[in-house]
Amino acid sequence: STATTLAGSNFDNCMMNASGVYCMDSDELLAVENSKAATFVTKSGTLQPRKGNPEPRYFETEFGSINSMGLPNNGVDYYLDFVSQDQINHPGKTYFLSITGFNLAEDLELLQKVTDSDFAGVVELNLSCPNVPGKPQTGYDFETVDAILKAVFDVYHKPLGVKLPPYFDIIHFDQMAEILNKYPLSYVNSINSIGNGLYINDDTETVVIKPKQGFGGIGGEYVKPTALANVHAFYQRLNKDIQIIGTGGIQTGKDIFEHILCGASMVQVGTALMVEGPVIFERLTAELEAIMAEKGYSSIEDFRGKLNYL
Ligand code: DHB
Repeated sequence: STATTLAGSNFDNCMMNASGVYCMDSDELLAVENSKAATFVTKSGTLQPRKGNPEPRYFETEFGSINSMGLPNNGVDYYLDFVSQDQINHPGKTYFLSITGFNLAEDLELLQKVTDSDFAGVVELNLSCPNVPGKPQTGYDFETVDAILKAVFDVYHKPLGVKLPPYFDIIHFDQMAEILNKYPLSYVNSINSIGNGLYINDDTETVVIKPKQGFGGIGGEYVKPTALANVHAFYQRLNKDIQIIGTGGIQTGKDIFEHILCGASMVQVGTALMVEGPVIFERLTAELEAIMAEKGYSSIEDFRGKLNYL
């Protein structure tokens, strides 16, 4: 079986959407919920609803995608109401609420709303949006990450994970893991998109998305090696009670197998879900089951994290 346990909850499958894809409103969230995916995560909710950046702001290429959405979302109250109602409709299921503030005070205000609600699921604190003009990716400011987590865990004691940007330097893996290990995180989700890539159209000699003169977050096949590196680097460094969600470049069951081999307890699908829609989870589940059957694995724990070295 492809079942897993994360943040103290059991899931009948190890797959879900990545935040930002198929999770903007109740129709999209219900489409993921009614698919083979184990659960869903919402679009990152901000204190106020946001329209996001001007369009076109998402573009698919042969090997992936580029986006500069700019955090369009219906506001945290919308998602909190939806997940709080959905958990009543589906007793025993655990859902993920993504939130993102523009500073520490906003993060705390968002968490206070969660505390004041009946939501009993998992919070994913997004520390890595690359697309809001003038705002840095928090995950690249190590001192700020430390300060945010300190303040967050002073007031919030329910399951919470963080979504991180990709890191590209071994010292950065060391330094970030040292910070993360100080806190009772349920999980670390690696990776968000590779920030501020540039995809261009040679014929028209033009960028393909409007915001930020074409710069945007890269997802899809391009990012899998970076995602696997981040998953495994954190698997090697984090306390064993901090689990890992692997996100980045998942198009097939083989890609999921690789994320789990690198240490992921659950995986999220972004670009490929955007391309194929929630029906993708049927194919991914069948493909992962086939690989496991061929290898004689009956549970993902049989191979999770057991990557071999030369
Ligand atoms: C957006 C993109 C991201 O990669 C992210 O983590 C959050 C938001 C966006 O542009 O909306």
